[in-house]
Amino acid sequence: MATSKQLQFLSNDAIALDVRDGLTATPKRLPAKLFYDEIGSQIFEQITQLPEYYLTRTERSILESFAGEILQQAGPSLTLVELGAGTATKTCILIEELLQRQNRTLFYPIDVSPSALDEAVRQLGQQFPALRVNPIVADYTGGVPALGRIGGRKLVLYIGSSIGNFEPDEAVRILRRIRRTLRSGDALLLGADFAKSSKILVPAYDDAQGVTASFNKNILARLNRELDADFNLDAFRHIALWNRRVSRMEIYLESLTDQTAFLPPLDLDLTFQAGERIHTENSYKYTDAMIESILHESGFTLEQSWCDRKKWFGVHLARV
Ligand SMILES: C[S@@+](CC[C@H](N)C(=O)[O-])C[C@H]1O[C@@H](n2cnc3c(N)ncnc32)[C@H](O)[C@@H]1O
Repeated sequence: MATSKQLQFLSNDAIALDVRDGLTATPKRLPAKLFYDEIGSQIFEQITQLPEYYLTRTERSILESFAGEILQQAGPSLTLVELGAGTATKTCILIEELLQRQNRTLFYPIDVSPSALDEAVRQLGQQFPALRVNPIVADYTGGVPALGRIGGRKLVLYIGSSIGNFEPDEAVRILRRIRRTLRSGDALLLGADFAKSSKILVPAYDDAQGVTASFNKNILARLNRELDADFNLDAFRHIALWNRRVSRMEIYLESLTDQTAFLPPLDLDLTFQAGERIHTENSYKYTDAMIESILHESGFTLEQSWCDRKKWFGVHLARV
């Protein structure tokens, strides 16, 4: 089997075009998927351990409390698929429970980050010798046609609040594309963050140790490494804002000065004025009504939801 390291997924040309489109637009933006090169994936793992970043530990506690119920509800003889699996650390909770119910289990983790998938394959191989792992390096936003060729009943995990990175319209389009590759009876497990006080939300995206800031700046560092650009990382600052009107956290890099960066592959000068921002990420925070609406619009029926006691995070099972 080819390891994911052998597959070059996001080519430098594709990245350069994304960067040109985003940084010559007004306002400037960069796609959040560019965060996840090898270093970005490692920094994300550190974020998940931060005291302020309640998302991962809250979702983990829900999975630990309800893994049996979730799998019972999903149905018998499941094949697991995970969109944006990363290193699949929380997925282990479901896999362990599933292996007690069925002795043959297949797992298809999908991610744009080959290094994160390599780590997932290594860890899962050590922990679960009976599990067969077939990693797929792909951008799931356009749908993943390979899912249509997987037989049996599928449970597609889309956890970690990844859905929150997309505008609600785009989230519906992505879920529809995924739904088209599923069959009647297949299930989706969606992990989404609930709207809550900005006193909890803002520190989760702007922690005291500056780990989230370094994750955000890594997007420019990656362009320096891979495209030979010359962004001065010290001349940008990390900003995390709660936009209550549209129920999302907004993440920016703000230029501290008038400056120019050069992008050699496109022979392009990118100019920034002092105070100008690059919008690097959104993280939508959902209500029950928003969850029901995106699932319904994308062709799923919500069957059951689980959440923690404070209702900070929710995990929702929906059927095709
Ligand atoms: C917030 S992390 C979540 C990881 C893991 N699911 C969890 O719950 O901890 C998002 C993951 O999705 C991957 N990702 C981001 N955009 C993607 C895309 N468009 N297609 C595939 N994977 C993507 C990233 O590489 C990263 O591993």
